[in-house]
Amino acid sequence: MALVDCANALLNDGICILPTETVYGLACSAFSAKAIRKVYQLKGRPSTNPLIVHVLDHSFAEEISVTNEYSRKLAKAFWPGPLTFILPKKKSIPDEITAGLNSVAIRSPSHPTFRKVLDQVQLPLAAPSANPSNKLSPTKFENVVAAFGKDCPPFIDGGQCDIGIESTVLNLTSTSPSILRLGPITKDAIEKVLGIQVGCERIILEQTGGTKARQSPGQGPKHYSPNTPLFLYSTMEQMLRSNAINEGDILILPCAKPPLFFPAKKIHQLYLSSTGHPKEITKNLFKILHDADKLKKKRIHVALFPLGDGLLSAVNDRLSRAATERF
Ligand code: TXA
Ligand code: MG
Repeated sequence: MALVDCANALLNDGICILPTETVYGLACSAFSAKAIRKVYQLKGRPSTNPLIVHVLDHSFAEEISVTNEYSRKLAKAFWPGPLTFILPKKKSIPDEITAGLNSVAIRSPSHPTFRKVLDQVQLPLAAPSANPSNKLSPTKFENVVAAFGKDCPPFIDGGQCDIGIESTVLNLTSTSPSILRLGPITKDAIEKVLGIQVGCERIILEQTGGTKARQSPGQGPKHYSPNTPLFLYSTMEQMLRSNAINEGDILILPCAKPPLFFPAKKIHQLYLSSTGHPKEITKNLFKILHDADKLKKKRIHVALFPLGDGLLSAVNDRLSRAATERF
């Protein structure tokens, strides 16, 4: 689809698939209740889970939300880019976007195609990840076509998304900011810019055994699931010792080197990277999970990454929610 046709569709209550630097988005005008309903329907998304709105810059965010000192500082440091703010909403944002909440999720994407479309339409664009609810996020337009089949909306192909996982979501509605979804912009990086400590709901949930009410409706424990059952191990050593790995299963490994051999069994091995670099692993995470699904095998086995790297914590978070079984 040509960019101009996409802009026209968006100006006329239409929806389309656009690349962002994180994952592909299912875009519509944030002011069109009709288009918003189409987005919820196509994704099969519960009406209680609000959408995220994309803007060109912080001054556009000011038109639809009550911004503050934190959002200004962070936008200066990280926008355009993969950081989403939750801010008190202004009246112009319809309740359909926010699922009735009085806050709205906003980010400014850096992908040149998405920015060109934003510039043409001069509207905030809602765009949740372009996957059926709870399924794997798409990092290539082929993933979107495969997921929606004949119902797939028109799209612009932007190749494989550079970052590969969804933006960090940061709650800025109170004086103590807290991370609601781990992502490419790490807790450390945010704290460095703000000069204060920020909370992290994921960590609190783990500490309280998950009893605390969720502040972000889309952050349920099960999400991002492949169709193939995924067995998740705490460490690589544990995975390699597992006797749950059977003939024909798929093993996902961080790096192509060193090669691993299972002389007695035929095991499919897929690699998240050629270098072991966290950015490359993150970029390929959903791509490899989609590839694994296409093989239509009985099980996928993968291990969590050791704690320490902020980006890989976000990868661990996605793996935890994709898991069918934990070891
Ligand atoms: O990188 C991204 O953020 C991608 C690209 C396309 O921009 N979008 C994306 O959208 O991941 P979505 O809808 O799949 O995830 C947005 C998350 C959801 O978990 C949703 O529950 C949460 O943001 N969210 C939206 N509005 C919120 C609000 N007012 N308060 C708390 N959480 C909110
Ligand atoms: Mg999503």
